[in-house]
Amino acid sequence: MNGRIIVTGATGGMGAAAVEALAAQGKPVLMACRNLGKAEAVRTDILRRIPEADLQVGKLDLSSLSSVRSFAAGIEPGSVSGIFHNAGVISKKHILTEDGFENTFSVNYFGPWILTLLLLPKLPAGARIVSMVSLTCRFAPLKESMLQPSERDFSQLRTYARAKRALLSFSLELARRHPDLRVHLADPGIVGSDMIDLGHWFDPLADILFKPFCKTPSKGVQPALRALSTTEDSTRYYVGKAARAVPRRYLDPLLDKRIWEKTVLLVNPWL
Ligand SMILES: NC(=O)c1ccc[n+]([C@@H]2O[C@H](COP(=O)([O-])OP(=O)(O)OC[C@H]3O[C@@H](n4cnc5c(N)ncnc54)[C@H](OP(=O)(O)O)[C@@H]3O)[C@@H](O)[C@H]2O)c1
Repeated sequence: MNGRIIVTGATGGMGAAAVEALAAQGKPVLMACRNLGKAEAVRTDILRRIPEADLQVGKLDLSSLSSVRSFAAGIEPGSVSGIFHNAGVISKKHILTEDGFENTFSVNYFGPWILTLLLLPKLPAGARIVSMVSLTCRFAPLKESMLQPSERDFSQLRTYARAKRALLSFSLELARRHPDLRVHLADPGIVGSDMIDLGHWFDPLADILFKPFCKTPSKGVQPALRALSTTEDSTRYYVGKAARAVPRRYLDPLLDKRIWEKTVLLVNPWL
C-alpha cells in the first residue's frame, strides 16, 4: 500500500519522531498540524537528515470540528493508506471549544472520531488506523454520559484519561463495524515530551527529577510504528515490544456501542 500516512500532532514529541521514522522507511507522510510554522520547521529539519523524504504538511486543529472537516475535504480518495491519531492534549482547565465540547475531549476523542469517519469512504481496504492511548485509561472507567464533562466534573488527569479511554472504545467499535480496516492501539508508556509538563509550579522540578527517567519520544513511538506497518487484523494493543490482545478490562462491546451512538448524536452537525 503506497498511500500517504497521516500523522496528527507532528510538530514535536512522538509525532515528529514518527514522521522521521516513517520517512526513513521510505513512506510518504502527511503531517496534520494546527501550527503550520512549527510543522514546517520539523519538516525542514527532517529533510536535512533525509533529503529524499516525501513529507507534506496540512492544517488540522482538532479543537475545531470545522477545521477537521476542511482537512478531510482536502484528502483525495485513495491517496491515504493510514492514519496515526497521535495528537493529544491535557488541558489544565475546563475550556469549551468553539463547538461547545470540552477541549481535552475534542482533541483526543471527538476530533479523531470525526476525522476517521469523514475519511472512511476515501480509504482503501486494509488501511491502518492507529490510535495513541495511555496507561491512564485503566484508572478511568467511562460511561456515555461522561463525554462532555462540566466544569464541576472536570479534573485535568481524569478528564484526559477518560478521553483516551473513549478513543480506545471508538477503535474497538470501529474495528467491529469495518472489518476491512486494520485498527490498532498503541501505548507509549511514559515519555519525556512537552505533554508531561502539566502547567503546574512543580514542572521545573519534574524536569530535573522525573523527565530524565522517562522514555525518549523516539523510543515511546516504537509500538505505534509497529502497529502502522503490521499486517495483523484488528485489534492489537501495542505496548513495549509486544502486540497483545486488548486487555480484558477494556472489553465491553455494549458500552462501545452506546458510546458510538451517543457520539453520533453529539457530532451529527459536523458529519
Ligand atoms: N508523553 C507521554 O508520556 C504519553 C503517554 C501516553 C500517551 N501519550 C499520547 O501520545 C501522543 C503524543 O504525545 P507527546 O507525548 O508526543 O506530546 P507532545 O509533544 O505534547 O505532542 C502533542 C502534539 O499534539 C498536538 N496538538 C495539541 N493540540 C492540538 C490540536 N488542537 N489540534 C491538533 N494538534 C494538536 C501538538 O501540537 P502543538 O505543537 O500545536 O501544540 C503536538 O504536536 C498524545 O496523544 C499523548 O496523549 C503520551
